[in-house]
Amino acid sequence: MCRSAHTILLALMLLSGVVVQSATLSEVQSQVFDASCTGCHSGSSPSQGLNLSEGAAYGNTVNVPSTEVPSLDLVEPGDADNSYLMQKLEGTAQTGAQMPNGGPYLNNTLRQLVRNWTDEDVANNGWRQVSMDRPVRQRTRPEREKR
Ligand code: HEC
Repeated sequence: MCRSAHTILLALMLLSGVVVQSATLSEVQSQVFDASCTGCHSGSSPSQGLNLSEGAAYGNTVNVPSTEVPSLDLVEPGDADNSYLMQKLEGTAQTGAQMPNGGPYLNNTLRQLVRNWTDEDVANNGWRQVSMDRPVRQRTRPEREKR
């Protein structure tokens, strides 16, 4: 990418107030799923059949269709807006209640964490279910490639 494209991208990120950063599954697990979801979404008969407990959440969400709206995956890598789980957190889903059911709902920081995980981490590191805590490396292009 040329320098001006970088500048434009950076400006867009700043303007939209979005700091693009990765979020690991283990952060999402501990700060969101374990903290606010597994009370209902775990055990032998989890709500809506969705088990979000540690070790199960990734396999039950990433590229897995929602049971409420099967045309959408719960977590669509790289596309948080069209991820049904994200829609449930934001209260924009076409079916059922905003999650966590009955509230209190997630604050913006935690929603952004799930969003970053979906947009960045899941999309770029499909292997993360094997190695959960490796940080995403920034890819920078060496100067000399520009010649
Ligand atoms: C108090 C219980 C409860 C809590 C806590 C809860 N849920 Fe739910 N969840 C439900 C129930 C009941 C349904 C089905 C009814 C509905 O959608 O309103 C559901 C449905 C869902 C669905 C739809 C599943 C599908 O396959 O379509 C998703 C996604 C979901 N919850 C995510 C979450 C997340 C993420 C959290 C934590 C941030 C959470 N829920 C917390 C009870 C709960």
